[in-house]
Formats: sequence, structure tokens, C-alpha cells
Amino acid sequence: MSNKTLAMLPDPVHFGRDATDQTLVAASILSADFGDLARDAGAAIDAGASMLHIDVMDGHFVPNLSMGPVVCKAMRQHLPDVYQDVHLMIDNPADRIESFAHAGADHLTVHIEVLDDPPAMAEAIRALGCTAGIAMNPTTDPQAVLDVAACFDMVLVMSVVPGFSGQAFMPQVLEHVRAIRAQLGPAGHIQMDGGVGPATAQACREAGANVLVSASALFGSDDYAGVIGAIQG
Ligand code: DX5
Ligand code: ZN
Repeated sequence: MSNKTLAMLPDPVHFGRDATDQTLVAASILSADFGDLARDAGAAIDAGASMLHIDVMDGHFVPNLSMGPVVCKAMRQHLPDVYQDVHLMIDNPADRIESFAHAGADHLTVHIEVLDDPPAMAEAIRALGCTAGIAMNPTTDPQAVLDVAACFDMVLVMSVVPGFSGQAFMPQVLEHVRAIRAQLGPAGHIQMDGGVGPATAQACREAGANVLVSASALFGSDDYAGVIGAIQG
């Protein structure tokens, strides 16, 4: 883990954009150059991203395969103070959380679709020294998340069917974000992930999301700072 925690990030009370607060941008390294990962990831942080978003895919929960704990370990070695937000798109997160925590993750998000006991999972993640997030797919009933949101440090609303970067934003999930924000009130982190970029970020912010993930819009640009600024609005 780094020396940063979600609690040290800007107060989500001001999740809407004003002069004193900022939408947090999570740089999803899935679209970075894997041959120069530390360079690209570091450049995104230098350009204003608040954290690295590390997408873990197992080929079962989602059809794609991506990264494992070795990537967290390498990022921790090369970028020791950078906050690692790890998104576990895997069937059996209980089998894996320990290895990601030990490899350097600060935060672990698990999907509600694979959990029997979400509060117990939040506790298990916290016992490893990480903060805990709960993710929902676009077609998942938001009530399932609303029932357990208070147990978690962050709620992730997917705005694409997970598995790949570069997909089109699904605006119908904005109503899930509004419902979750209405229940959480101004406190609490709500993250959106998938198809987020300068063209879609305003709708995300207005719905109540305060942590926005970007892969292709960010790493596909030659102006990281410009894209991050546009996502922040
Ligand atoms: C999708 C991943 C996302 C993805 C986002 O399954 O969870 O984090 O990298 O990619 P973009 O921003 O290109 O939609
Ligand atoms: Zn993700």
C-alpha cells in the first residue's frame, strides 16, 4: 500500500464541481502502453490523475484476461506513492484479495454479482489494510447495492458491460448513480467506469459521481492534462 487512503482524498461532501473541490480522475492503465507502463502511469499522475485504476479480469466473470498482482507490485516499486484503485472483475474475489493487498493495492473493488455476503467481503478487505468498493454492472438491480452501500468506502457504477476499454458510455446507468447519491447523501464516493471522457463526464458529475475512471480517452490522447481537466469540468 501507499501512504494514501481514500479518506485522504478530497472530501466527497463537495462531489459537485465548484471552486473548492475537484472530481477525482482514476487513470485506467488498461489502455496504457504495457511496454512502458510505469512511464505512462506516471505521466497520467503528473498530469493530474488522483489514482491508478487497475483492471483485473479473469476470463470468467468477464471474457477478457488482463492483469494480476504482479502489476500492482511493479507499480508500487516504480511509483511508490501513487494510490492504487484495483477493480476486481473476477468470479472468486475471496481467493485473491490477499495477494492484491500484499502486492500494493490501496483499494479493492469487488462486484456484487459474485458475492454471497457483501458486508463480510468489505470486512475482509479492510482487515488487509485496504479500503473497499462495491461495483455493479449496468443491468444489475441498484437496490442490491443500495442495501449494502453503507458497508463500503466507494460504490462503482459500471457505464459499460465490463471486459474491455474503448466501449460506448451507457447513459441509462446515470439513474443508478442518482439513486445511490440520493441514499448516500453528499458523503461517500461514487465512481463511474466505462466510456467516460470529456464528452460524457459532465453527465456523470451532474448525476453525483465524484470519481471518474478513464482509459481510452486518457491514454489515447497526447494531452493527458487536457483530458483530465476536461473530465473534471
Ligand atoms: C472496463 C474496465 C474499465 C475500462 C475503461 O471493463 O473496467 O476500467 O478500462 O475503459 P474506457 O475508459 O476506455 O471505457
Ligand atoms: Zn475498471
